[in-house]
Amino acid sequence: VDELVLGIESSCDETSAAVVKGGNRVLSNIIWTQMDIHSRYGGVVPELASRRHLEAVLPVVDRALREAEVRGRDLHCISVVNGPGLLGALLVGLTAAKALSLAWEVPLLGVHHIVAHVYANFLGDEEPEFPLVCLVVSGGHTEILFMPGHGRFELLGRTRDDAAGEAFDKTARLLGLGYPGGKEIDRLAQEGDPEAVPLPRSYLEEGSLDFSFSGVKTAMIHALDQAGRAYSLEDLAASFQKAVVDVLVDKTFAAAERYRVRQVLLAGGVAANSELRRRTHAEGAKRGIRVLLPPPSLCTDNAAMVASAGTYLYRMGVRSSLSLNAVASLQIPGCG
Ligand code: KG4
Ligand code: ZN
Repeated sequence: VDELVLGIESSCDETSAAVVKGGNRVLSNIIWTQMDIHSRYGGVVPELASRRHLEAVLPVVDRALREAEVRGRDLHCISVVNGPGLLGALLVGLTAAKALSLAWEVPLLGVHHIVAHVYANFLGDEEPEFPLVCLVVSGGHTEILFMPGHGRFELLGRTRDDAAGEAFDKTARLLGLGYPGGKEIDRLAQEGDPEAVPLPRSYLEEGSLDFSFSGVKTAMIHALDQAGRAYSLEDLAASFQKAVVDVLVDKTFAAAERYRVRQVLLAGGVAANSELRRRTHAEGAKRGIRVLLPPPSLCTDNAAMVASAGTYLYRMGVRSSLSLNAVASLQIPGCG
């Protein structure tokens, strides 16, 4: 069936609404970013984010429906991120979704933000095959998930300190780049030597699928202190990026082999990183494991991924009640 699903995302600093058909075709995907407001503070200011979501949410939904040429009452379901994220920001999207659900008489479905990121991989012609392993790397998350089927997740590993995106953003700040700085590090790294600065790789205990990025960050601070201007920005960016990507790729494929999966996926904002994408493809080819990556534009926060996740959950019979709440530290279903 070609269900029409509206997705709404407001967990951080993007207000987004999208209409997806049949779980994989993006009819519209409107993203209203607040980067301009927060970048001058070097991070997201929750109070300001909530207010901007409040201004943006209904105009963004309206545009998503118009662009898709779909009326609210024709929707099969409204899926909305109800966590994890900034509580005040989540409440805005969730409240809007509930009101629209009631007004249009369309079922409501709460979606976990990370589950939505994984489903960015289902937007497209090629459908991922189960069982699979997905590396989720965003500003707030670094997780290796095992996924035996739709809506089912097992947490295989996660970060013990900073998230990968957080490490990118903190390092960017250290290098005097803007916020969020992951994209800029990626750009600078293209011109740098990844072996120029010696940096540690933290593999933790033998066989562990967990991550730690605090050591790389500290080593970057020392590299800057000791050498002054000795390393170029490009070399610093390239070396940092490789130190992080080395460990991400090694552990993801260790998980893929341990769980004998058919496919490896990436998700989350850092999955837009060109080095991580290149190395994941190369490693997959070497080990004979199929790799599927969302296009970079669907790696960062957007509502199309929310609508895709919502469609598959809707097919499984999942529904939420109008009393659904927002949860800032919501656990991935089955991983609590
Ligand atoms: O998934 P996302 O949009 O928001 C969260 O749910 O956190 O991820 C944002 C993160 C930021 O830390 C940003 O610096 C990082 O993704 N990011 C990148 C790149 N593009 C975005 N990191 C490395 N390389 C990139 N090209
Ligand atoms: Zn995200």
